[in-house]
Amino acid sequence: MRLDAYLSSALNDSRKYVRNYIKQKRVTLSGRVALSAAEKTDGKEVFLDGKKLESRGKIYLLMNKPRGYVSTTENIPESVMSLVPSEFRVKGLAPAGRLDKDSEGLLILTDDGNFAHEIISPSRHMEKVYFVVGAKSFSESDVEAFAKGLTLKDGFKCLPSRLEISRNKNEAFVTLFEGKYHQVRRMAAAVGNHVERLVRLRVGPYLLDGIKEGEVKRFFPGDVKQIKKYDEKEI
Ligand code: URA
Repeated sequence: MRLDAYLSSALNDSRKYVRNYIKQKRVTLSGRVALSAAEKTDGKEVFLDGKKLESRGKIYLLMNKPRGYVSTTENIPESVMSLVPSEFRVKGLAPAGRLDKDSEGLLILTDDGNFAHEIISPSRHMEKVYFVVGAKSFSESDVEAFAKGLTLKDGFKCLPSRLEISRNKNEAFVTLFEGKYHQVRRMAAAVGNHVERLVRLRVGPYLLDGIKEGEVKRFFPGDVKQIKKYDEKEI
């Protein structure tokens, strides 16, 4: 792994920030001063200001989950864990949140419990964006119903959310600030539609962009530009 990537995950700071430590010659690698951020390390003999960094670095992965895989750490063939390359299969690695078996798209996996909590915690209102294909067209009255806050068939009152209809009116983008069980499917049902395809495109600042189906991409939270928090007035 690159030295700046290792320092970033071991110290939980951005790569840009930790590069300063290297420039200031405060980092040593196997007993000599590190020369560049691009040096390779396995994390074994890295010291900052003479203090050994013990952490191997937390693992943070973005996965493009295919349909048919289950968001679980259970040892079953269709578990999303079976898609994780062995180099990232560390103890404690688990999905931060869930996507239904029939849903596709962005799933975050990590062994960092605090980070997972930030993603999952209902009080954070982490913004999530989905691409939805309905069995029938979405309408302007659906847009209004989503914006007002839908009531689901079991009586659950959803937070206001955004429905943006595509040129093909069976397709839409849904932005939610909560994540209840089967929420998008149940919201579509509440306006008399049925979800035929559901793809999560974004969770907070984390994007599916460019990750092939069934593949994962490692990231470092400190490198990702955070976005504004939920504001009901902006829906
Ligand atoms: N809403 C759903 O209905 N399913 C998901 O997997 C995620 C959100």
